[in-house]
Amino acid sequence: MARMRVGVLISGRGSNLKALIDAARDPDYPAEIVTVISNRPEAQGLEYAEEAGIPNEAIDHTLFAGRPGFEGAVSETLREAEVDLVCLAGFMRVLTADFIERWRERLINVHPSLLPAFPGLHTHAGAIAAGVKISGCTVHYVSEKVDSGPIIGQAAVPVFSTDTADALAARVLNAEHRLYPHCLALVAQGRTRIVGHAVRIAGKPESEPILLNPAEE
Ligand code: GAR
Repeated sequence: MARMRVGVLISGRGSNLKALIDAARDPDYPAEIVTVISNRPEAQGLEYAEEAGIPNEAIDHTLFAGRPGFEGAVSETLREAEVDLVCLAGFMRVLTADFIERWRERLINVHPSLLPAFPGLHTHAGAIAAGVKISGCTVHYVSEKVDSGPIIGQAAVPVFSTDTADALAARVLNAEHRLYPHCLALVAQGRTRIVGHAVRIAGKPESEPILLNPAEE
């Protein structure tokens, strides 16, 4: 079967992009990364695309008068690459309703919290300040409201009493690197179906072990 053609939008480090590129090295993986776009020319993540021989481009948002112009250029590159699905991977620009509508149900994002808790920025500091014992990450379809949209999958990690925001971020990031390729595969296999605000997953067991924090004796 033809692999789903995926475009990835980044803004910086690109470790989630790397996780997706690495997963797609397996010829049996149901998606391939065909283009990478960064809104910041200096984004380290562009190097992962370059090393993997994936066409990549910086489209500097500061060179456009407004968001529609910038997004028009992004959409044009995605269209030229014949992209079926767009993955946001640490892409730190808010998208217009027009762009989201254009890519509706073909646009997914990873966020470093268990949404709907802690949307927006400073998620890890927020989780620590709130005293939650478990945090994690979410892969979801993108809708107009920032960090909302039907949830495809989530991964949980414990929050330790000694955690700094950076320590928790690193633990969550590890989980993102497992969750994002897993969720992209489900989408690319056509196993996700949006029903109301939820996503139904076809043919996947849901019986993972419970994570208790604090642990039992
Ligand atoms: C990741 O933790 C991602 O979840 C987060 O930015 C980081 C990017 O890291 N995204 C958001 O906060 C979007 N709301 P990466 O560039 O190494 O993939």
